[in-house]
Amino acid sequence: MTENPNIQSVADVGLVGLAVMGQNLALNIADHGFHVVVYNRTTEKMTEFIDKVKKEEPSAPRMSGQADFKDFVASIKRPRKIIIMVQAGKGTDAVIDQLAAIVDPGDVIVDGGNAQWTDTIRREKTLRDKGIHFVGSGVSGGELGARFGPSLMPGGPLDAWNHIKPIWTAIAAKVDDKGRPIESHIPGQPAQGGEPCTAHIGSDGAGHYVKMVHNGIEYIDMQLICEAYFLMKSLLGMEADEMSEVFAEWNQGVLSSYLIEITADILQQRDPRKKKGFLVDYVLDTAGQKGTGKWTSTSALDMGVPANAMAEAVFARCLSALKDERVAASKTLKGPKAQKVKGKTKLLDAIHDALYCSKICAYAQGFQLMNAAQAEYHWTLDFGSIARIWRGGCIIRAAFLQKITDAYHDDPKLINLMLAPYFRKALHKGQESWRKVVSLAAENGVPCPAFMSALAYFDGYRAKVLPANLLQAQRDYFGAHTFERLDDERGRFFHVDWPEKGRPMIEA
Ligand code: 6PG
Repeated sequence: MTENPNIQSVADVGLVGLAVMGQNLALNIADHGFHVVVYNRTTEKMTEFIDKVKKEEPSAPRMSGQADFKDFVASIKRPRKIIIMVQAGKGTDAVIDQLAAIVDPGDVIVDGGNAQWTDTIRREKTLRDKGIHFVGSGVSGGELGARFGPSLMPGGPLDAWNHIKPIWTAIAAKVDDKGRPIESHIPGQPAQGGEPCTAHIGSDGAGHYVKMVHNGIEYIDMQLICEAYFLMKSLLGMEADEMSEVFAEWNQGVLSSYLIEITADILQQRDPRKKKGFLVDYVLDTAGQKGTGKWTSTSALDMGVPANAMAEAVFARCLSALKDERVAASKTLKGPKAQKVKGKTKLLDAIHDALYCSKICAYAQGFQLMNAAQAEYHWTLDFGSIARIWRGGCIIRAAFLQKITDAYHDDPKLINLMLAPYFRKALHKGQESWRKVVSLAAENGVPCPAFMSALAYFDGYRAKVLPANLLQAQRDYFGAHTFERLDDERGRFFHVDWPEKGRPMIEA
């Protein structure tokens, strides 16, 4: 690249894309002593940002902007490290193409968007062929996380990781020796000490795959909380502020997590427009989604992993989106009228247990999925490490993640989280309540698809016998798809001409 002689290569890192996540990540990096140069396709946005930083941010001396793309690249020290924070998909490809044309072999490009892992695999290969390092890094924690400490899930070649490791470990969220997040939300004064919530996940698309599963778990975690809320509302007639207290109390125990904490906060928010009642009661009940939950479920289906509760969480959003149809159907499709249940404390405890047991199943599915993916994509994933870096910064951060970290530490080859002694015990303890809650929901016509689906997974996984014998017979009957026999060795397949009398059995 012909460089502008007036540009000095002073920046430790460059960042492209100044939507809120990009801005906050840049500020976080600068807060940690690195010089950041930023670029945005619309120059106005870049200048606005830089002006704001100069006025408000203690890290201002370490932040600069460039309006010209070549000047932006030229102002980064070699080997260059360039972070892309633009819209996933075509936007990312466009920036990568632009960069690939001017950066040098040995430079490192990092995609911090929610990219589909297959895109990351493709991009990594294309850039590797040109000698350019590519890291696809999951970044979780929303706007605040990006600003003050996200959980970072980088995938790509180890060499590339070593280049960005000092920055990634500095800006990531930190947890103390008990796995509790250490937080500071003061600009210029980041959290000190602790273990960083980042680690090299694996080659090419591994980081983005793990981030995607994080989001799949996020979907089910959120759906389970919503179902707990709906049961409290429908069967106990509780008001939002009262439920807020329950969630705040739950946040002190095994369910302690960011999502439970924000739920407690949300439920006590009064409606600012009407000045009476709670805001949550005015929010339209149709859920949006950007696609990562769907990708997780599609990947599970593709690999034959029974992540049914995770898929259920996506379908629950789809069903919620059919508001008009639901309103019309509510007038014609009859069901039981939800009855107010007596024994509030008992039911609340049961809902708590149902939520906890379902959550264990959901995480079991997420880790089972990653286990299948590592075989499919030839990654070597360290599940203990993944659980460890999810303890702080990310949306699913929870006390629970320390238990998962411990479970994989005790048995790195654990085949299903439900089998780990701690979780097995919790499931044994909570399942009676869980079953009661699910029955009560069914009897009263309160939709709780994730609670139910998680229970079906638990019962299915622990079932020595399932009715798939009949299913295989049906398949063989109409399609000669063959079946194996219980009284023969695995791998020997048979076929019977079912409709015919005499039915000779043929080994297929
Ligand atoms: C995170 C979040 C983040 C984003 C989700 C929202 O980890 O910080 O998961 O990535 O908020 O993608 O997803 P939906 O719009 O699909 O709910």
